[in-house]
Amino acid sequence: MSTIPRAADPRARTRRGLAVASALVLGTSLAVATPTAANAATGCEVDYQVNDWGSGFTASVEITNLGDAVNGWTLGWEYGGNQQITNIWNGSHTQSGQTVEVTDGGHNASIATDGTVSFGFNASYSGSNDAPTEFTLNGVVCEGSVDPGPDPDPDPDPDPDPDGRVDNPYVGADVYNNPIWAENARSEPGGDAIADQPTGVWMDRIGAIEGNDSPTTGDMGLRDHLDEAVEQAGGDPFVFQVVIYNLPGRDCAALASNGELGPDEIDRYKNEYIDPIAEILADPAYADLRIVTTIEIDSLPNLVTNVSPRETATPECDEMLANGNYVEGVGYALSELGAIDNVYNYIDAGHHGWIGWEDNLSASAEIFAEAANTAGATPEDVHGFIANTANYSALREENFAIGETIAGTPVRQSDWVSWNQYVDELTFAQGLREMMISDHGFDPNLGMLIDTSRNGWGGPDRPTGPGPETDVNAYVDGGRYDRRFNTGNWCNQSGAGLGERPTTAPEPGIDAYVWMKPPGESDGSSEPIDNDEGKGFDRMCDPTYEGNPRNNDNMSGALPDAPIAGHWFSAQFQELLANAHPPVQ
Ligand code: BGC
Repeated sequence: MSTIPRAADPRARTRRGLAVASALVLGTSLAVATPTAANAATGCEVDYQVNDWGSGFTASVEITNLGDAVNGWTLGWEYGGNQQITNIWNGSHTQSGQTVEVTDGGHNASIATDGTVSFGFNASYSGSNDAPTEFTLNGVVCEGSVDPGPDPDPDPDPDPDPDGRVDNPYVGADVYNNPIWAENARSEPGGDAIADQPTGVWMDRIGAIEGNDSPTTGDMGLRDHLDEAVEQAGGDPFVFQVVIYNLPGRDCAALASNGELGPDEIDRYKNEYIDPIAEILADPAYADLRIVTTIEIDSLPNLVTNVSPRETATPECDEMLANGNYVEGVGYALSELGAIDNVYNYIDAGHHGWIGWEDNLSASAEIFAEAANTAGATPEDVHGFIANTANYSALREENFAIGETIAGTPVRQSDWVSWNQYVDELTFAQGLREMMISDHGFDPNLGMLIDTSRNGWGGPDRPTGPGPETDVNAYVDGGRYDRRFNTGNWCNQSGAGLGERPTTAPEPGIDAYVWMKPPGESDGSSEPIDNDEGKGFDRMCDPTYEGNPRNNDNMSGALPDAPIAGHWFSAQFQELLANAHPPVQ
């Protein structure tokens, strides 16, 4: 049984009020008092907020029903300019010239008296972008300007979740220790020290559901793991972490973790993979477990950064963007698994060194929102996001910060940071969380996970303080913990160590630090190796490789003699132990 250091949940509970959003936000709030007529009383308040970047914007719209309860709504308005809605979530829309009508998204059709519903959309425009001056709800005008007043629910924490989910599944719970991984860890010198830690159970092929004797899942199928979890739980609150990882055309920007399903095999994904998993997870025998799912590592960010016309594009990612099967598959997984009351879905969100740049981040956030509104999914199916899964980005870089200027040059302009708006995973995860809530209508209690399995970067080469202030590159390079050649490097990184041990509610907005990637399992083979898992050979796992545009043409930084992805890699495990930070006692 695992032990996880626990802390009180320090998450900031204040609702991120729309009225206090950033300087870029323009808002308007219109209302009419509730009429007292004998027939159905109508009345509404509309809070319309935009995040505007000059040629487009994301709008968050909240309707408060001040009249009798409604079941089914249409909100109408006229634009003064040429604003054009491009995609919408939590509702559907029609637009004819400047006239817009948004109709509920089904799941949010009813609004109780004083109740609110929200939707959001992206739009393009040129020229001016004034907020609408009048809204109608089911044909009745909401008019007159009011002060938005105090937050009606400043502390949403005690609100019961209608599905009975808790806000943070890790609070007060132990977490599943995978016996297959624990045995591998224990067989290593020094491995006992961490073998009782919780790690993710990867459903990396259809065969893994029943158990297929693969090195990563062993002979235990999903039911075996769940039965074992019930046993480990002993009746107490308990988290079971499972990784959903089998999309059609998987791993489109790399070869090491290509999967078994071809780009068009979305039906097999749904029928032979997600449906059987959902059926097992919904078994009442597992109803007391808190099942945390990590949904499809790396998939959605690949559709942003590794597609044409970018230099980093691959034909495979272009294909997956064009055929829509990543978005469809993620949406389907969210909706099918999210329908199970004790499942907590966390969508994989890459890491700061991949999508931390403004343009990548806002586009990724849009595609996350799109997936969460596809194939029957709604944002309510999303409990949170997970950052850094199976990656190596440092949790906190303490020796330099974005706001600093060294010898006349901002840190942001250093070669390492290269204009990224984040330098580490903690700030990235917190920033993304805020963005999903404020710009895309996700639950204000959204929680983040950060995979800290291999981002420790300890050992003798860990800097003990900032670098010299002679120039910005010397300063950043001398102080950074992350010792990679480039943050685009992802395969079996030399010099990496175990990061923070799994921890509950370590920082505001963070549900847990987790070890989703089981330390010691390879990211990919350093030379071609025949296998029946669909996995290829990616030169990013070859220590002699000199790189491509996706790692800015740097050396791969990979360890030599690695087995194929998911297979036990003793030398890597030993290095992770030796370079652990915090150190393993
Ligand atoms: C592999 C999977 C494996 C997972 C966890 C991935 O890179 O493709 O087969 O289950 O890592 O080690």
